[in-house]
Amino acid sequence: MAVIAKQCPQIEVTVVDLNEARIASWNDADVNNIPVYEPGLSAVVAEARGRNLFFSTDVDKAIDDADMIFISVNTPTKTYGAGKGQAADLKWIELCARQIARVSKSDKIVVEKSTLPVRTASTLKDILHHTSNGDGVKFQILSNPEFLAEGTAVEDLLAPDRVLIGGDQDEAGQNAVQALVDVYANWVPRERILTTNVWSSELSKLTANAMLAQRVSSINALSELCEHTEADINEVARAIGADSRIGPKFLKASVGFGGSCFQKDILNLVYIARTYGLTEVADYWEQVIIMNDHQKRRFANKIIKRLYNTVNGKKIAFLGWAFKKDTNDTRESAAIYVADHLLFEQANIAVYDPKVPAQQVYTDLDYLATRSPDENSDYVKVVHDPYEACKDAHAIAVLTEWDEFKTYDWQRIYDNMLKPAHLFDGRNILDRNELEAIGFKVSAVGS
Ligand SMILES: NC(=O)c1ccc[n+]([C@@H]2O[C@H](COP(=O)([O-])OP(=O)(O)OC[C@H]3O[C@@H](n4cnc5c(N)ncnc54)[C@H](O)[C@@H]3O)[C@@H](O)[C@H]2O)c1
Repeated sequence: MAVIAKQCPQIEVTVVDLNEARIASWNDADVNNIPVYEPGLSAVVAEARGRNLFFSTDVDKAIDDADMIFISVNTPTKTYGAGKGQAADLKWIELCARQIARVSKSDKIVVEKSTLPVRTASTLKDILHHTSNGDGVKFQILSNPEFLAEGTAVEDLLAPDRVLIGGDQDEAGQNAVQALVDVYANWVPRERILTTNVWSSELSKLTANAMLAQRVSSINALSELCEHTEADINEVARAIGADSRIGPKFLKASVGFGGSCFQKDILNLVYIARTYGLTEVADYWEQVIIMNDHQKRRFANKIIKRLYNTVNGKKIAFLGWAFKKDTNDTRESAAIYVADHLLFEQANIAVYDPKVPAQQVYTDLDYLATRSPDENSDYVKVVHDPYEACKDAHAIAVLTEWDEFKTYDWQRIYDNMLKPAHLFDGRNILDRNELEAIGFKVSAVGS
């Protein structure tokens, strides 16, 4: 929404959220205090905020004033009832739809921006049409899934590979599609704005995430084979990535993918396939998640094994907690699960991440509910200095691919560690030869 406001000064954009603290941060006089860390985002907000970009908690007023409403609320995996652990929880979507229906006094275009299961638009349509004030207000539902990647969100939004808009095929539907095309056309070349029917658009988002995650699980599956043979996964990835049919992206072996989207969207796809009785389709995609869970567990087990089968009371330094570099988002981060596994073995963990606050680390661990918050804060320390994190450690685990890790004084880190000094490169970002020359015992994923 901030990028739309930046690129379209003639359009007034109001972002509303029920969470007052979040909105207060978005309105913070110091634009560096906005709640999301993304390269370039604070500059975008600084440019548009107060001009045509506003943040508010007055949801009713924003709905009433709007011609077009983007529903961008959370759609997490259900944690209860039917579909628990797989289906998307559409509670917040439904609440939004009911509120829009209740408040609207004029026709609205309602855009699904959240990632939603296929055919959610028909649910939205049903709710909007049956719960509206009955004074002839008309709603058009569009699907406009978001393909940005965290860490490069602003860049992706300014120059998207494509924008996808799904709408009804009748005249009113097509007029609504055109209205949204006209918004993006302010900066996106027309040939990159794809229009489809609503269902294709909804399914495309789930499919895009499933295919990306599948590449990661595919290379990770082979990384385990590499560790048992003389093959090196980095060389394999380079060799296959040079094939133009395959391409080089998303072929980096790692401790596993994280983030709020991949797992939840694949689970959602699996659930939908099962709902239609498509067992083989569901099993096929579920394997992507099974492989990812295996990779995280395998990484933690390798640390335990290399540290002579016990990490009890040993200090392990975690470099990185965010699920990827250039974001402060930790949702489903591999670091959380690796830490959990090591904590079962009573390890002591010192975490350093350049952007994740200490409280978030504890919130993530407490959320697992595998041990008490007191135990988590006893066993896990969060520090603001990577050298302090690594001091007197038995091992270092690199969990996020932050660029700054490559620039550290690794000799100094080595000198201050217990020996033998182990380093587990879960992101394959450090120069193994250089570290081994210093004296580190290095284990990288897939070699
Ligand atoms: N994060 C990503 O990179 C990304 C990328 C593509 C798609 N998506 C999709 O976008 C959606 C949102 O993701 P997110 O990461 O921003 O989630 P989030 O949980 O960070 O944000 C959702 C926000 O919605 C607010 N909210 C919930 N119900 C509300 C209501 N009735 N009225 C007003 N505000 C309400 C919550 O308070 C919260 O601040 C999800 O469906 C996700 O799958 C996210």
